[in-house]
Amino acid sequence: MNDLTQPFKRLPVAVIGTGSYVPERRLTNSDLEKMVNTSNEWILARTGIEERRIAAADETTSDMATSAAKAAIENAGITPEDIDLIIVATITPDTYTPATSCYVQAKIGAVNAAAFDISAACSGFLFGIKTAVQYIGCGQAKTVLVIASEKLSHIVNWEDRSTCVLFGDGSGAAVLQVGTGLDEDPAVLATDIGSDGKLTDLLIVPGGGTAMPTTEVNIHEKLYTLAMRGNEVFRHAVQHMRDSALSLMERTGLTADDIALVVPHQANLRIINAVTQRLGIPPEKVFINLQKYGNTSGAAVAIAFDEARRSDRVKKGDIILLVAFGAGLTWSSAAIRI
Ligand code: COA
Repeated sequence: MNDLTQPFKRLPVAVIGTGSYVPERRLTNSDLEKMVNTSNEWILARTGIEERRIAAADETTSDMATSAAKAAIENAGITPEDIDLIIVATITPDTYTPATSCYVQAKIGAVNAAAFDISAACSGFLFGIKTAVQYIGCGQAKTVLVIASEKLSHIVNWEDRSTCVLFGDGSGAAVLQVGTGLDEDPAVLATDIGSDGKLTDLLIVPGGGTAMPTTEVNIHEKLYTLAMRGNEVFRHAVQHMRDSALSLMERTGLTADDIALVVPHQANLRIINAVTQRLGIPPEKVFINLQKYGNTSGAAVAIAFDEARRSDRVKKGDIILLVAFGAGLTWSSAAIRI
């Protein structure tokens, strides 16, 4: 008889620690007024963003990831040697190869870990959480470190006012281990991920890969920077974040009342309001920090999760609903009891 036909019991999985890091340098809306034809009023009204953090020129994605990882390791009360898998979600890797996770492994001294990266843009952290849940749930790993880290300032076109006002740099991390399986104890209750590859054009860095190799002309035309069809992205973001969160709520039987806090992707206040209204979640149950950091891609929901988890807005046993959306298109959600 084939093993796969045997009944298979998955192990419960829990988030046991989180951490985050943002660079020191602040770029305010009034700073941007001096760089492109924009205004503080427009940015605030259309996005809710007041400032974002920008990494130092010599600060890499793995440097930021390392700081977030160290905070998560300390918060979890483990040692780097305990980690047997590191997953870094990023679209701004230190190098094409090796993976950014390998640099992080060396920097934190996680000598017993395997390490790989995943690319799912702003949904990347929750794609990483889902991957970690599979490894631990199937008994393939005991302790997994998931990090989302982005130096988006590196791929932003600082002359394009329709995108440069939106993005920032930062990193967030979580440590996952086997949970107790007991009611009220920490647990990842459910996860959802999805993609629509027909919509790759809506949010893209077109140049620099095999489809459009780096040439002097491409560099001159800034084809290695982020290009976005903002209105269309907005519409899909609202629809897919709502649908992903709803499917997860239906699957787990969770209602809006059961959720203590929603931690959404921090792209745009209007997107967050539209999604949470459609989910029947009141504003006081929504965690927002985009005014401080802007959109840090996959790191946004990871940083917000860490800040929420450390805040007095939640207590042990509460359920947090995380939901994200990004280039690909991709979307993801997770219900996590802390
Ligand atoms: N400052 C001032 N004006 C700006 C501007 C800026 N920074 N950026 C764009 N505008 C102008 C446009 O040129 C346009 O002018 P026009 O009407 O003369 O052509 C006008 O503002 C409206 O542009 P529009 O794109 O319709 O604005 P919007 O209300 O859709 O807001 C975004 C633009 C980018 C804020 C919004 O579409 C958005 O947030 N989209 C989703 C982005 C996102 O979340 N991306 C990441 C997903 S992970």
